[in-house]
Amino acid sequence: MRQLKLSRAFTLIESGPVVLVTTHDGKKNNMMTISWTMVLDFTPLFAITTGEWNYSFAALRKKRECVIAIPTVDMLDEVVGIGTCSGAATDKFARFKLTPVQGKVVRAPLIKECLANIECKVIEIVRKHNIVVLEGVAAYMDSLRKEKRTVHAVGDGTFIVDGRKLDRRKMMATKIPEGI
Ligand SMILES: Cc1cc2nc3c(=O)[nH]c(=O)nc-3n(C[C@H](O)[C@H](O)[C@H](O)COP(=O)(O)O)c2cc1C
Repeated sequence: MRQLKLSRAFTLIESGPVVLVTTHDGKKNNMMTISWTMVLDFTPLFAITTGEWNYSFAALRKKRECVIAIPTVDMLDEVVGIGTCSGAATDKFARFKLTPVQGKVVRAPLIKECLANIECKVIEIVRKHNIVVLEGVAAYMDSLRKEKRTVHAVGDGTFIVDGRKLDRRKMMATKIPEGI
């Protein structure tokens, strides 16, 4: 093995699915692109990394809720566009022609065009590392949607698309909770 620049090490493990995170600050809807995500365990607990550098953060901190929306590969240009402009100056739903839909629990909107949406409450903000811990309170999936492939950001401006699905459910039986 050859040495890899340490500054590129994150690109080896960054590639969870890219998500959109919507917020509502009391006045308007907004959304941002997030690739730094983490599933915490089998309960619906998640974490994202974000902070003051994003306009969305003030709404996350103030309203303590959001929606994690899962886009698919056909939405990649919108996903990158949403992640390269600020809701301070742009109505991103209008600009990227996406439809906000009211969820059941939180005020932040679901995104109709996405494959899935998870309504979330912010349960902790770990300021030292800009980690926002979220608890899912309702989830939705558009199972009729044809395109189901999500995209994974490598972190250097390139993306990986979902490929073959491999089944090891039997081997993992002791590790998977009932009903999953
Ligand atoms: C592919 C991609 C992934 C991104 N991932 C993150 C992330 O994980 N955390 C973060 O704080 N910003 C991330 N961003 C940047 C934000 O989406 C971007 O700053 C956005 O403009 C914030 O919108 P806002 O200012 O309206 O909140 C990402 C951008 C792109 C294009």
